[in-house]
Amino acid sequence: MNALACGLCWCVCAAVCVLCVDASWWYMSTLGSRVMCDNIPGLVSEQRQLCRQHPRVMQAIGAGVQDWIAECQHQFRNHRWNCNTVARDHSLFGRLLLRGSREVAFIYAISSAGVVHTLARACSRGELDSCSCDPRKTGAWRDRAGAFDWGGCSDHVEHAARFGHAFVDAKERKEPDARALINLHNNRAGRKVLFCTWVSPFVWEIEAKNVHLRMRNNTAARRTGDELRRKYERAVHVAVNQYGAALTTLSAAGRRAAPGKNQLVYSDESPDFCVHDHDTGSVGTGGRRCNVTSRGADGCSVMCCGRGYDTARVSRSAKCECKFHWCCAVHCRDCRQVVDVRTCKDHT
Ligand SMILES: *[C@@H]1O[C@H](CO)[C@@H](O)[C@H](O)[C@H]1NC(C)=O
Ligand SMILES: *[C@@H]1O[C@H](CO)[C@@H](O)[C@H](O)[C@H]1NC(C)=O
Repeated sequence: MNALACGLCWCVCAAVCVLCVDASWWYMSTLGSRVMCDNIPGLVSEQRQLCRQHPRVMQAIGAGVQDWIAECQHQFRNHRWNCNTVARDHSLFGRLLLRGSREVAFIYAISSAGVVHTLARACSRGELDSCSCDPRKTGAWRDRAGAFDWGGCSDHVEHAARFGHAFVDAKERKEPDARALINLHNNRAGRKVLFCTWVSPFVWEIEAKNVHLRMRNNTAARRTGDELRRKYERAVHVAVNQYGAALTTLSAAGRRAAPGKNQLVYSDESPDFCVHDHDTGSVGTGGRRCNVTSRGADGCSVMCCGRGYDTARVSRSAKCECKFHWCCAVHCRDCRQVVDVRTCKDHT
């Protein structure tokens, strides 16, 4: 009887899951500190093993997911697609992931960069037992002001990148089909962008004769987001080559070449994201705010896809009549401002 029930259940589950998107390690963000490696859906065996060996690293990665999603949503706040996540979905982004669109390329790249960023910061703050400070950046250091000892930890980028590579890419290495090649490429591009934006914003922090080489706070994440956003706009359409082993670009001129390592790549055209569409994972732009004077993606005609918009008059408080007082203060009055807020009409 039990066996029958189980069999039945298995059938139902299997049938349901034909229609659903694979779970992903991104789901760890919803588990908080309860990261239990055997219960996270969507980890492949190699990831599960890393998870068991480094539970605190996994907690850090899980907590960091919110950060790169926030960065993604910041980058696309004025777009029809605004990096929305799907509640109670084991892959966070739902059916959007079924296609290899530019948006999915961006998600893979920023999530992969996000892991490296999160781990390097956690390492340098000493929050993880399994990573030590960068062994090459210890010892004495000297400049015109005198000699210093390296103190504390420097951000340990390479260690983080190695771990990120091992963990994040494990799933794609398991079944190296066309989508996996694309995901791997975008994962790698994300890490490369983080690396490049990271080297320049190093700052020397000097406190009590200890010198730390450390990433400026927040700026690496924002710079990485900005740079990946540019790469999203110039993403390259690719297909798998005839041997199924590598990607090749599909340019209009018909020339075939390997895509650049720094480029984001996609295989499927994006939906227009205008209306709610279950199949493509689009939630539509009904109810989104738009800007009536902008000619960009946040302009009402583009954002609302020609459906028109509603206008609501709202009153808000703002600082006004600010005066500078010698020295050194600025005093403002609180004023009420009336502004028109436009929101896209829903699809009917
Ligand atoms: C970033 O650094 C500035 C000063 O260097 C500090 O005031 C601020 O609180 C820091 N922000 C975060 C999120 O750590
Ligand atoms: C709307 O767009 C215009 C033109 O791009 C810009 O100057 C203005 O600041 C925008 N308004 C809001 C509320 O974002």
